[in-house]
Amino acid sequence: MVSAQDINKQMAGAAAAEMVEDGMVLGLGTGSTVNFFLRALGEKVAAGMRVAGIPTSERTATLCREVGIGLLDFAEVGRLDLAVDGADEIDPDFHMIKGGGGALLREKMVAAAADRVVIAVDPSKRVESLGAFPLPVEVVPFGHQQVERRLDAMGISYRLRLADGKPYVTDNGNLILDCGMGDIDDPRALHDSLNAITGVVDNGLFIDLCHCLIVGADGRVEVIEK
Ligand code: A5P
Repeated sequence: MVSAQDINKQMAGAAAAEMVEDGMVLGLGTGSTVNFFLRALGEKVAAGMRVAGIPTSERTATLCREVGIGLLDFAEVGRLDLAVDGADEIDPDFHMIKGGGGALLREKMVAAAADRVVIAVDPSKRVESLGAFPLPVEVVPFGHQQVERRLDAMGISYRLRLADGKPYVTDNGNLILDCGMGDIDDPRALHDSLNAITGVVDNGLFIDLCHCLIVGADGRVEVIEK
């Protein structure tokens, strides 16, 4: 049975596909909401729309191949017309936590290269304050224990992300520490202090990287511009 949450995600993803115009160069996010977007976009491509995009994960690339969306990389394009992605949490300032699916680094690179970033969510992702969702921090495998010691010193609890009982490895060959933050008072300051730790590749705080929010809820879609 399809859950109410999936229906909301599907509506948000389909609404995002309606924002795509012929000839656009896209950023293609990762996650279940984006998968609905990609399937809706695939139908447009099958009907003749010409678009291509940079995928933010191997999973997204696989689905794009399945539905006929052309793939690009940063060797070919420098700027993107539009990026579409999901979020794990988004606050009233449109700051986000992302990376629940492990794709935070490529997602952030793609969002930073896009003229417009559209985030599609179900209502559960909207929060007053970020931090209930564990904040993913991507670290290089070498000496990740040193990053963990720094987090200890900062009073931040963390858990090494596992998959099938083994350390989860990102598409970039790195590890993820999921950090229990509680309410994040100053997302920008936390973002900068985490990224200042040598060995941290990036963290899942997305600051000023959303221009438009699409929320699917109760059979309707709300579009909120920043
Ligand atoms: C992937 O790494 C994440 O940033 C996703 O965008 C986020 O987890 C949203 O995923 P869902 O659309 O599956 O909720």
